[in-house]
Amino acid sequence: MTPNTDNTGASTVDLNQQLFDRAKTIIPGGVNSPVRAFRAVGGTPRFVQRAQGAHFWDANAKRYIDYIGSWGPMILGHGHPAVVDAVQRAVTEGFSYGAPTEREIDLAQAIIDLVPSIEMVRLVSSGTEAAMSAIRLARGATGRSKFIKFEGCYHGHADALLVKAGSGLATFGNPTSAGVPPEVVQHTLVLEYNNLTQLEEAFALHGAELACVMIEPIAGNMNFVRASVPFMKRCRELCTQHGALLVFDEVMTGFRVALGGAQSIYAKHIPGFAPDISVLGKVIGGGMPLAAFGGRRSVMEMLAPLGPVYQAGTLSGNPVATACGLATLQEISRPGFFDTLASHTRELVDGLKAAANACGVPFSADSEGGMFGFFLLPQLPQNYATVMTSDGPRFNRLFHGLLDRGVYIAPALYEAGFVSAAHSTDDIAQTVAAAREVFEAL
Ligand SMILES: Cc1ncc(COP(=O)(O)O)c(C=O)c1O
Repeated sequence: MTPNTDNTGASTVDLNQQLFDRAKTIIPGGVNSPVRAFRAVGGTPRFVQRAQGAHFWDANAKRYIDYIGSWGPMILGHGHPAVVDAVQRAVTEGFSYGAPTEREIDLAQAIIDLVPSIEMVRLVSSGTEAAMSAIRLARGATGRSKFIKFEGCYHGHADALLVKAGSGLATFGNPTSAGVPPEVVQHTLVLEYNNLTQLEEAFALHGAELACVMIEPIAGNMNFVRASVPFMKRCRELCTQHGALLVFDEVMTGFRVALGGAQSIYAKHIPGFAPDISVLGKVIGGGMPLAAFGGRRSVMEMLAPLGPVYQAGTLSGNPVATACGLATLQEISRPGFFDTLASHTRELVDGLKAAANACGVPFSADSEGGMFGFFLLPQLPQNYATVMTSDGPRFNRLFHGLLDRGVYIAPALYEAGFVSAAHSTDDIAQTVAAAREVFEAL
């Protein structure tokens, strides 16, 4: 036995804590994106050493079944051989040129082939950048400034999007972050998700001034809340009627809930349905910094250098990221990929539901493709206010109970979960068994 091991030889020093302590001295909060700091759930963030398939290992060499998958991108699991191979080959040809490449055309074509509403697409490096650029494009294309977003939807951290509802439909938003001047959000109108009455009123009051409605069609930033079909249908109708653009933020849902994204699901219920602009990210980069926005040709041609809307990026269309994205899209386009993924995800969700029911824990859950959400509530919520009625302390006990048992779910109750093609039936069975143990003591 050495001073730092117990009598089984296992380390008694928490290396995650050591890294966290070190990180906190030089990185604000010890992390490069706030939710990673575990502030909502308490405790020590796990510092990842490596990942493979459906698992990652932390600094203490403990293995976790990963239901975050880098917050969505890792739809194939970690280290998929075809993706690793494509990236390794790309790396040997150079990291970045700042000049166009054939691979950018191939990726643009792959996106256009899979998402019929996209006729032209521009590649960028993050979802934030894509969403911010989509708003600018909508404003430039319509010559209008105001736009609608919905409470609980997250579209990245551009200033005009860090906003909460004002005191009524006649008043526009208030910043949710210090450093965002009120003037910058004065054109952002925040409405309740799935609230048809508010939507009608907002268009009646401001329809002629609205550049766009921006929406997460399945909101993964308030766990998992679907926009109802009637609500989405009315969003489309009102935008068309008033000359506003419908912007679908599919950074999370794109190539994740279905090969054609959430819009392909709404199109099954609403004849002829299509957004004007789509915002993409996460899966299209396969874990590398890559995102995109695209839409109708007439709108996209407003972008520089063709049109007056400026948008640019040193690393946009990066050759290594595009190789990673292309290989990922190729793999997920194989016949049956989404059927298998969706059925594994449903298996997980149904298993969790059955375990919660058996233990008398209020529980509701939903999934689509490889994305899922669950609530410690008897019924699925329809909007942010209801999501936030969840029992926070109880969720935190569930989170830590699972974490102790080697199951890593999002460290906040308002985040969605992700299953990858690498999650096996055995991984899912282990997860459900762990959840059952935790539910029993919840
Ligand atoms: C729906 C949605 N839009 C935009 C973003 C911002 O993307 P990024 O974190 O790549 O800037 C996110 C990030 O989680 C997202 O979920």
